[in-house]
Amino acid sequence: MLKLKNFLVLMGAAMLFLGVSGTVLAADGAALYKAKTCWSCHGKDAKSPLMPMYPTLAGQNADYALNQMKDIKSGKRNNGQTAAMKGVMGLVSDAEMSAIADWLGSL
Ligand code: HEC
Repeated sequence: MLKLKNFLVLMGAAMLFLGVSGTVLAADGAALYKAKTCWSCHGKDAKSPLMPMYPTLAGQNADYALNQMKDIKSGKRNNGQTAAMKGVMGLVSDAEMSAIADWLGSL
């Protein structure tokens, strides 16, 4: 009985988590940028990259940024240091990339 109760509590927590993050993630590019670890390479403010060769993203054209993300994710863009970023792109959907791109463009 206790086990079943724990299970239900866990399920509830998981659903709450998914529900809440789903809403935040779809709408908020800034939150996504943090949650999906983009900041670890591109900098918390999107303009102080970890490595000098990594691009500054703040203020980038949103459509351009979105296309680059899609191409890096699919492997179509495979130059320079894209391999470093490709692994992370499995974490983001098209809608999430779009929200992040809009936010980057607004900086
Ligand atoms: C492990 C490090 C790393 C992570 C994590 C990372 N990136 Fe990148 N990103 C790079 C590197 C390196 C490049 C440049 C690739 C090249 O040399 O062509 C890049 C390129 C880009 C570009 C293209 C910039 C341009 O001007 O063409 C965008 C947009 C971008 N990243 C967004 C993101 C977003 C959004 C996330 C999170 C979902 C993310 N990156 C996570 C390392 C990373």
